[in-house]
Parts: sequence; structure tokens; C-alpha cells
Amino acid sequence: MSEPLILGIETSCDETGIGIVRGTQLLANEVASSMDLHVRFGGVIPEIAARAHLEAFTPTLRRALETAGVQLKDVDAIAVTAGPGLAGALMVGLSAAKGLALATGKPLYGINHLVAHVAVGLLDRADTTGPALAPNTAALLVSGGHTEILRVGSLTDDVQLLGSTIDDAAGEAYDKTARLLGLGYPGGPAIDRAARGGDPAAFRFPRGLTMPKFEGTAEAPGKHRHNWSFSGLKTAVARAAEQFQAQGLEIPVADIAASFQEAVVDVLTAKAVRACQEHRLTNLLLGGGVAANSRLRELLAQRCAQAGIELTVPPIPLCTDNGAMVAALGAQLVAAGVPASSLAIPADSSLPV
Ligand code: KG4
Ligand code: ZN
Repeated sequence: MSEPLILGIETSCDETGIGIVRGTQLLANEVASSMDLHVRFGGVIPEIAARAHLEAFTPTLRRALETAGVQLKDVDAIAVTAGPGLAGALMVGLSAAKGLALATGKPLYGINHLVAHVAVGLLDRADTTGPALAPNTAALLVSGGHTEILRVGSLTDDVQLLGSTIDDAAGEAYDKTARLLGLGYPGGPAIDRAARGGDPAAFRFPRGLTMPKFEGTAEAPGKHRHNWSFSGLKTAVARAAEQFQAQGLEIPVADIAASFQEAVVDVLTAKAVRACQEHRLTNLLLGGGVAANSRLRELLAQRCAQAGIELTVPPIPLCTDNGAMVAALGAQLVAAGVPASSLAIPADSSLPV
């Protein structure tokens, strides 16, 4: 018997994502973004995002079915993001998914968006260890709303939080810093691009929750050993920019962007590797929108190699929000025999991992 065919629906923020997988094989990943509508507001407007999902849903679904070469009736289960995310946006995807489940008689699976960012790392793996989650696996989840290091015993029922940000998420820090530097929204890709022309050592910005004398080695006192803090960094960038302005000088945007990025990525990778070492986790999955960052991908690969940690980094289109990640986790739930969700499943905007 072939592996189950899963349809994944993602509408937690501004991307309408429809993905189709067969087991861990990716068949289609169609995304329609309403980002252009939010740019002039400098952030996602929930009402606009929800309306955009409503308009984009059917055409995106059609495209995904066409790309995968399957029909709705072939699908074995429908997976949909139930949270966390914007309530109105989530409700559009959930309502559509419930309608499809009701019409086709196929089981519905409510999916945790954060765990789905991790599960996407299992898709289309070319390595010899196979698609199953390796034992001793950790996940570094870095998105617009979350920055977490997790121990992942099982994607279906054993995910343990080892550390997280105590203030801003990494993506939030990118977005706020980009706004401050006049680089626009979304900030992550803008800073990534601007940083390419800058010197990452031009400014020494703080690495939150590390002790100064151990900077870069991830040492920090007690309970915050595996936690991050990015709000001080944001303030330091603002102060640096102000000093140039006060002297009537042009702000060295590229150098600040590169130095900011180096600070974020240095502390993210140092602490992730340290958490893996302390918990004897030898495999690391990287997930979430910030995982698209070029310097993060580079430095994490370097530090994991040094530490003997096997790193999995999904292709960039699978890092930012998409339906394939939802389908990927749906496939894991089906394979593990997890019972389907009720058709009454609510949207949970603050669902934890
Ligand atoms: O996972 P995601 O698409 O949505 C959430 O679930 O939050 O993550 C969005 C975040 C935004 O903050 C965006 O600025 C950031 O991911 N991001 C990046 C890059 N691409 C997207 N951050 C740094 N570098 C990038 N290349
Ligand atoms: Zn996300």
C-alpha cells in the first residue's frame, strides 16, 4: 500500500499555503502571500490577511492539486493549522478545511504551526538515515513570533522546550531593526540583503544573556543558560543610529545591518549548539521564517560541523510559512495512528508547542 496522501492548509498569518505530500515525499507547495497589502502599514493587518486568505484559498488549492497531479477525492486526510497565529486568519483556513473534510468524508487533523515548522525538515530527505525522526533530535525554531530550542522525542507527542527568548523573537528583532534603519517590511529579508554589503565587525552589538567574558561561548548564568534576549540588541542598534544622526552623519546602514545580524546569529547558534551538547542531542532541525537567513544557515552549519551535530536545513521556500509543512506533520500524525480532530476544533491563536 502506498503512503497516505495528505493535503495541508496554512493560513496563520499572511501566507495562504496549500501543500500536498505523500508520506515524506513533497508533491506540491503553493503559496499566495498578501504581504504586498501589508507593506504600507509596516506589519500584517489581521483583517486584511483574513480577507486575502478567503480570496486566495480556492485558486491556491486548485494550483496545488494540479501540480501534484491528484484530485481532492484521492486525498487520505486534510491537515490544517489550528494555531498559533492570527485568530481571523486561522479561522478562514479551518473553516475551509472543515468544509472539505465534511464534503469528502476525509479525516481532519488540526495542526500546531510551530511543530509543523520542525516537521517540514523530514520532507524529501536525501540522506541515508531515512525519513524517520532520528533519535536524539533537537529543533531550533526561529520565526516572527517564536525563538525556541526544543528536544523532539516524537513529532506527535513528545516535544520539550529547552530554551526560548525571554522577550522579542528573532524575526521580530529583524523586523523592528529593519524599520529603525528604514529598510521596510518584512525586515528579515531586507536586513539579510543589506548585510551583504556591510562589515559584520563594524559594531560590537550585545549578545543577550551571555556573560561578557564568555561572549560567543554561550555561557550565561543559571536558568537563562539556554534562553535568548533580543530587546537589548534592538536598543543598542537604535543608540548607534542616533549617534550618527546627532552628528549630522549618514547612518552606515549596511554595516549596522551586518553587525546586528552577526550578533543575532552568533548568539542563536552558540546557544543552540550548547543546548544540544548539554542534552546529548546529536541531530538538529532548523525551522521557521528566520531559517531562510543566509548567515544563520552558514554559521549554524559551521558550528554544528565543529560540534559533530548532524544539521538539517530545509530549502528556503519550506522555511517561511507554507502548506507543505502542515501536510508533513499531518502525515506523521496519520502514520502514528493519532485519532483525527473533531470537526468542531477551534482556532487557538496562542497554542504552545
Ligand atoms: O515563520 P514565518 O514565515 O512566520 C511566522 O510564523 O512568524 O516567519 C516570519 C519571520 C519574519 O519576522 C521575517 O522577517 C523573518 O521570518 N524572515 C527572515 C528572513 N526571511 C524571513 N529573517 C531573517 N532573514 C531572512 N532571510
Ligand atoms: Zn511560521
